[in-house]
Amino acid sequence: MSAQLIDGKQIAADIRGEIKTEVEEMKTRTGKVPGLATVLVGTRKDSQTYVRMKKKACKKAGIASFGHDLPEDISQEELLKIVRELNANPDVHGILVQLPLPDHIDEEAILGAINLEKDVDGFHPINIGRLSMKRREPLFVPCTPKGCIELLDRTGVEIEGKRAVVLGRSNIVGLPVAMLLLHRNATVSICHSRTKDLPGVVREADILVAAVGRAEMVRGDWVKPGAVVIDVGMNAVDDPTSEKGYRLTGDVAFDEVKEVASAITPVPGGVGPMTIAMLLRNTTNSAKHHLKMV
Ligand code: GUN
Repeated sequence: MSAQLIDGKQIAADIRGEIKTEVEEMKTRTGKVPGLATVLVGTRKDSQTYVRMKKKACKKAGIASFGHDLPEDISQEELLKIVRELNANPDVHGILVQLPLPDHIDEEAILGAINLEKDVDGFHPINIGRLSMKRREPLFVPCTPKGCIELLDRTGVEIEGKRAVVLGRSNIVGLPVAMLLLHRNATVSICHSRTKDLPGVVREADILVAAVGRAEMVRGDWVKPGAVVIDVGMNAVDDPTSEKGYRLTGDVAFDEVKEVASAITPVPGGVGPMTIAMLLRNTTNSAKHHLKMV
């Protein structure tokens, strides 16, 4: 069997088209457009690439972006001051502080300083706290986990009652995606480096979300026939045959797993484009809320 390819690039393009239309309507009705502030500290290549892609996507959708590229050695106080200025700026409806931050910065303090109503990344402790409790509604849900659920929904995958296995327990993906699956009534296991018989646990999954950051760790014989596989991994591996000298690969051995799964996301072109689409969605929803359109 060869699995259905879950085309994140196409699904994200559809969503970005929907957002573009909403932004045009907003501009006609209110004269305003959504605004996203991106805060990048330091010179990490991957973070620079992500922020550049986010700004480009904003532009295409008609969303204003406000970039703050800051030196690695910025002090905690200076960074807090910038966040507070963005909180007070009425043209900014969303604030994204790209993670990870340098070690001398207290990440929790910075994320906690973001105005809850502009927390389009959903990492404010109150938004995360609400996400982690029953019958509490976070104002915003983190973008990559939200994108994973959107991929399942738009592919017609039922979540309720399914065994879901999340590989990885990061604050950015593993933990929040597990909460979202649980809220949708999946039975959820979260696996990590200390999990005993990892292949055996992964093999129980009807829905597998792989988010460990280990290239091609999930092999074909780890996957239950017919499972749906969402690969969040984005790993650069050396490849002398490629022009750049490396290629991007997921946490899943795609060629093996596609023969076993019923549906699978590719890397690149699966979850990655969805993260950005969900950021634009959260920013546009925030602007609608601020402009009292909802
Ligand atoms: N670093 C890796 N993924 C993300 C994300 O979704 N948001 C932010 N702010 N930083 C990240």
